[in-house]
Amino acid sequence: MNICVLGGTGFVGTELVARLALDGHWVRVPTRNLARAERLRVLETIELRVADVHAPSALSQLFTDCDAVINLVGILNQRRAASFQAVHAELPAKIIAAARGAGVRQVLHMSALGADERAPSQYLRTKAAGEAQLRAAAPSAAQTQPAVTIFRPSVIFGAGDSLTNRFARLLRLTAGLLPLARARARFAPIHVADVAEAFRRALGVRASFGQTYQLCGPEVMTLREIVRASARVARLPCHIVPLPDVAARIQGLVMGLLPGKPFSLDNFRSLTVDCVCQEDGCARLGIHPQHMLAVLPTYLGEDDIETQLALLRRTADR
Ligand SMILES: NC(=O)c1ccc[n+]([C@@H]2O[C@H](COP(=O)([O-])OP(=O)(O)OC[C@H]3O[C@@H](n4cnc5c(N)ncnc54)[C@H](OP(=O)(O)O)[C@@H]3O)[C@@H](O)[C@H]2O)c1
Repeated sequence: MNICVLGGTGFVGTELVARLALDGHWVRVPTRNLARAERLRVLETIELRVADVHAPSALSQLFTDCDAVINLVGILNQRRAASFQAVHAELPAKIIAAARGAGVRQVLHMSALGADERAPSQYLRTKAAGEAQLRAAAPSAAQTQPAVTIFRPSVIFGAGDSLTNRFARLLRLTAGLLPLARARARFAPIHVADVAEAFRRALGVRASFGQTYQLCGPEVMTLREIVRASARVARLPCHIVPLPDVAARIQGLVMGLLPGKPFSLDNFRSLTVDCVCQEDGCARLGIHPQHMLAVLPTYLGEDDIETQLALLRRTADR
């Protein structure tokens, strides 16, 4: 198939694009920054293109000759140049319109578990608005395409994630002391390879048309347990200080003002709802998701070896 993957340069996208290309598909990946995306240029069947995906004319060009479009574009925090509304709600509407114009047969869209129009955070409310745009444009008797398939994962982990790696980095910086907002928030972390597999299994499959799949890993873990597991595997000290909500809000407000917004009030609000599945989308797709504790040592452990080697070298130099 010819597939255009929007957001194909990100954490999930890198995994998915590589797999699709290895499956023999031809994959077009738009990006705002070609230099950052260069690492994807491993197979000739991956075409990188600089494009503004928010421009309908650019989308029409990108979707030319494509059988399927995958949308992975998403942001965790707003920036001046990108609002939640524009990225999560308006972009899907533009995508479906351009896909229809280009004769694309299927749009596979990445949403998020907990997306709900009444959700406490803008992130989750705009994710719900994006889903609604796509469902409203679902094929009718008059229009037969494109079919829409939606994925709602819990938090995603893997080499290059901004979850376990971020906690490991923070613990290294703070000698293990971590003031943690919503330490008891519940997640069902899913491995990035399983998420990519869900897209692969739904691609071009009629049974997935019109479906929404919730994607969860096999175990429910609190945020505190995720941090502890990351620390244990990376062999880092870990002293978690669970923050009361009042302090966590202040943390969100203050950190939301820092460059890169490492945490925000909106992130805090997302954490006030559990991120666990109500149905088993993985089972429906025939996927047995991997356990976080089995996968973590394959990448966090390596960091530890590098750190240890660096420490050894420093000791030897003295
Ligand atoms: N990671 C998780 O734990 C998780 C959990 C649930 C849902 N999700 C959803 O899964 C999707 C992928 O997540 P990810 O972790 O892979 O994200 P990521 O690593 O941050 O990648 C985001 C991708 O979107 C593109 N992008 C970002 N902002 C954009 C903007 N304003 N305009 C156009 N393109 C933009 C980036 O492309 P360029 O920079 O190359 O242009 C990049 O390829 C997102 O929709 C996210 O909400 C992720």
